[in-house]
Amino acid sequence: MIEFQAVRKEYPNGTVAVHELSLSVPEGTITVLVGPSGCGKTTLMRMVNRMIDPTSGRVLVDGADVRDRDPADLRRGIGYVIQQAGLFPHRTVLDNVATVPMLSGATRRAARARAAELLDRVGLPAELGRRYPVQLSGGQQQRVGVARALAADPPVLLMDEPFSAVDPVVREDLQNELLRLQDELDKTVLFVTHDIDEAITLGERVAVLRQGGHLAQYADPDHLLAEPADDFVTTFVGRDRGYRRLSFVDSAALPLRHADPVPLGEPVADAPDWRLAVDADRRPRGWLPPGTAVTDPLTEDRLVAGGSLHPEHGPLRGALDAALSAPSGLGVVVDADGGFRGVVTADDVLAVLRDARDRP
Ligand SMILES: Nc1ncnc2c1ncn2[C@@H]1O[C@H](COP(=O)(O)OP(=O)(O)O)[C@@H](O)[C@H]1O
Ligand SMILES: [Mg+2]
Repeated sequence: MIEFQAVRKEYPNGTVAVHELSLSVPEGTITVLVGPSGCGKTTLMRMVNRMIDPTSGRVLVDGADVRDRDPADLRRGIGYVIQQAGLFPHRTVLDNVATVPMLSGATRRAARARAAELLDRVGLPAELGRRYPVQLSGGQQQRVGVARALAADPPVLLMDEPFSAVDPVVREDLQNELLRLQDELDKTVLFVTHDIDEAITLGERVAVLRQGGHLAQYADPDHLLAEPADDFVTTFVGRDRGYRRLSFVDSAALPLRHADPVPLGEPVADAPDWRLAVDADRRPRGWLPPGTAVTDPLTEDRLVAGGSLHPEHGPLRGALDAALSAPSGLGVVVDADGGFRGVVTADDVLAVLRDARDRP
């Protein structure tokens, strides 16, 4: 249904985000792209709906090269769900969903009826339709995002870390809901995550990517766990390192690394590394890319979104999640008030786990 043929993407600055990658996504399945931050998942996914064109190679949807399709027309057949749901803040929830059928010519009345049906389908009570997005929880907003992506009944759904910003309990609800929906709808879903557990829960097929946009392994979950193709997949899938134990081990023994955050609202000198920006209450707001000097007061639009946060002493799982989801590879640790405490690396987390295992 979706086929990547030797696609490569090199950005104008020379970054090779995807390296000659071939992959075929079968119709009517959930196929997951998983890998650490920066390994090219978003780039690969956006080639499907032509938000990004490959430097070389081809992407086929339903047998046709997407380059021969008009982007607007192509996108009507492809639902797209992203992390922050991307809802229109000044429209009600119902109208956020109804916008899509109206674009394809439905009357306002028919579009709203369809929207109400979809809200029900994704498990939202009808009265939420009258609210505005900010009046909903993060998990509810993601459900609205899914409803909107389904509104035109597209055969293909692209989902880019849609559940990454919500807490683990809500994330599990959303995953179950997606599996239930998929049972009814049989879409071709391409789902991106950095979370191997999520990949294994949702994916009928899982493609593990590594830095530089290389495909490390493409298999069904059982196969991936039983026969990881190489050391990278072994480490990432974590059979040996007991990844599944992470949820049960607390992070008291995890060493906090020191980092100097940069405050919003002040100029920042150039530096070779990623730096965390914090607000006046020391709450993390995002990451400033390496080599960025800011002569005006630093504002949020200069920042790259920051991945999940790890509350100090929470389960180790959250620490690994934070490290793998941050663009810097440094997981951000916060105190009970959400204030910045320090950073951790994925290696730190694995070392704690090894120690816990070696001790009788
Ligand atoms: N517009 C861009 N210009 C230059 N480099 C980019 C751009 N977008 C992404 N990259 C780089 O390409 C690589 C892959 O990025 P991305 O596809 O967003 O990865 P992922 O979604 O796996 O985190 C990263 O090194 C990222 O910094
Ligand atoms: Mg991404």
